[in-house]
Amino acid sequence: MSAEPLEPVTPAPVADASAGADIPPDVRSLDLKAKQRVYHDWEARNYDTKFSISYDQRCIDYARDRFRKVVPEGAGFGQVLEVGAGTGFFLINLALAGCVDGATLHATDLSEVMLEVCRRNGEEHGLQIATRQGDAEALPYADASFDLVIGHAFIHHLPVPGAALQEMARVLTPGGTLVIAGEPTELGDKLSWMVKNATWRSFRAVTAVPGLNSLRKPSITDAGGTATDEVLARLEHEVDLHTFRPKDVEKMARLAGLTEVSVVTEELVANWVGWSVRTIEGAVRPGLLGPRWAYAAFHSYLALHRFDDEVLARFLPRELFYNLILHARKPYAR
Ligand SMILES: C[S@@+](CC[C@H](N)C(=O)[O-])C[C@H]1O[C@@H](n2cnc3c(N)ncnc32)[C@H](O)[C@@H]1O
Repeated sequence: MSAEPLEPVTPAPVADASAGADIPPDVRSLDLKAKQRVYHDWEARNYDTKFSISYDQRCIDYARDRFRKVVPEGAGFGQVLEVGAGTGFFLINLALAGCVDGATLHATDLSEVMLEVCRRNGEEHGLQIATRQGDAEALPYADASFDLVIGHAFIHHLPVPGAALQEMARVLTPGGTLVIAGEPTELGDKLSWMVKNATWRSFRAVTAVPGLNSLRKPSITDAGGTATDEVLARLEHEVDLHTFRPKDVEKMARLAGLTEVSVVTEELVANWVGWSVRTIEGAVRPGLLGPRWAYAAFHSYLALHRFDDEVLARFLPRELFYNLILHARKPYAR
């Protein structure tokens, strides 16, 4: 199945107002996919800053290490597609890492604004990325078009993730490789939610002390945002639709007709620290945490990531770890 690019979604204003005034959109009546598009279109301009995304050694190493956990050195690709590519974090950093040397790069996403940023990020790093807006559950490409299809942190946004795996399998050439990384596991997500919640409550308790209140980030409107920004920001709690059990993701990939299917997981303690850091960064007044904080946070994450990989992963079940990486291949016709 293939599909045409979708029309942009424009949520209806909730009320009439004088010309020029900010009229918050009525997002209540939008279906799940329209909410994804509206939210990610809005999030796109600040997405890289929000998630500390960069195109330097820190993120190049991150992308390469995820990829190399499942794809050996020396594998070559001609046509590479990232689905749910966002601003290009995974694809661009993999290209900068030399993992897709010589390949033509393609990206698709439900959000056209994400793709605009993706193209610009690519150009800034000397990469041409051909983009098409589309739905992962009905990809706008012909059968057997790509010998590598990748994704990062996006199938948990899809109403029917299995349909996207079918589509990714369809657009793969026989013998082609699928890699999806950065998806949350069911148990890992429950554990990290407890950590996030405890961090948030502790931060609020500490900053409730007189004099410490100014450490808190101002509300969106106090920081100069509009009522529309407030409405769209609240959609963040509605767009994360799934967490996954590793064995269910393997089953979905097999049902999509793929072989050599495997799911590896990673990040336990590293993830708890990572989410605590991100929770605090999202809660404090902007500009308060300086480069020393960023340095300490990143190097603690790296050390704990090694500890998770080299020690804990040896005896704890894969279900406990937060991030999963799926690898699969499309079989050659018999
Ligand atoms: C959390 S972001 C991840 C972006 C990027 N892959 C990354 O790792 O930074 C999720 C992305 O999935 C996209 N998305 C959500 N639903 C989608 C769908 N049905 N089809 C294609 N992309 C979708 C969003 O627009 C957004 O860019």
